[in-house]
Amino acid sequence: IDDSNFVTRPPVVTIMGHVDHGKTSLLDKIRSAKVAKGEAGGITQHISAYTVDQNGQKITFVDTPGHAAFSEMRSRGTEITDVIIIVVAGDDGVKPQTEEVISHAKASGCPIIVAVNKMDKESANMDMVKAQMAEREMTPVDWGGDVEFIGVSAHTGMGIDDLLENILLQSEVLELKADPSAKAKGAVVESLLEKGRGPVATIIVQNGTLKVGDNIVCDTTYGRVKAITNDQGKPVKQLGLSETGNVLGLNEVPVSGAVMVAQDSDKEAREIATTRAEHARAKELSKSTKVSLE
Ligand code: GTP
Ligand code: NA
Ligand code: MG
Repeated sequence: IDDSNFVTRPPVVTIMGHVDHGKTSLLDKIRSAKVAKGEAGGITQHISAYTVDQNGQKITFVDTPGHAAFSEMRSRGTEITDVIIIVVAGDDGVKPQTEEVISHAKASGCPIIVAVNKMDKESANMDMVKAQMAEREMTPVDWGGDVEFIGVSAHTGMGIDDLLENILLQSEVLELKADPSAKAKGAVVESLLEKGRGPVATIIVQNGTLKVGDNIVCDTTYGRVKAITNDQGKPVKQLGLSETGNVLGLNEVPVSGAVMVAQDSDKEAREIATTRAEHARAKELSKSTKVSLE
């Protein structure tokens, strides 16, 4: 293959963990610490994916909800990910969704970092968490294993630089490369129907460059990209490698985790998506027929 157009791309890091262990708080803290003040109009508003700058190197973060109902999204989330951060609350320890996340993370083959959060709390106990994780074959480096454990606090900001430096170290080894001139490919991180704006998809670009005017397919949905706002809420003409933003122009709301691919024409995009939608409907129908026959 001709890889002359390939450049190093920033790592995509997914934050996973049990409900309320502090995933979103940690991301909000990282964002407020690392995005230059004044630059970020929408810094108070939470978004599920954004890029930060750590001493000139970029890292893109993706948040996931800890609720049990989001199991499917967590399993798909591993597909867009280069590095996985498992957040464990230092006072609460390993819980059911932590265990689920461990198995997704192991299956993905991605490097895993454990962030032991809420270390500002008196009741936080790093050794307890390490012991619980070691029992699940997630043995800390300082116990002879290969998993980095980093104590952090989303409230005080402690440990965050350590965490970011560790992410950069792990991703360097991965030698992440992609082609910015290729046809855009990516994934839907989150989606919703917004009154007056229609379907909005938060998309992360994994290869190529996504531009306003591109004809895209996201699973069974399609459309011409009408507008893009970046992770700072600013209107932009395009999203580059590992960048995220909200995309308008799809005909329907795509499922989160859907693969996004740019096509050569609107006709092609429509055909691919509608054929998929028909197949999906036929599959549903045969499922319900089977159930009713049983
Ligand atoms: P889900 O998305 O619902 O799974 O939760 P989450 O993991 O995103 O946790 P979230 O950030 O919503 O935090 C849950 C609670 O823990 C909130 O009340 C936070 O204020 C608190 N919390 C988060 N991080 C810390 C921390 O470092 N220290 C302390 N003391 N509290 C924290
Ligand atoms: Na929460
Ligand atoms: Mg959250």
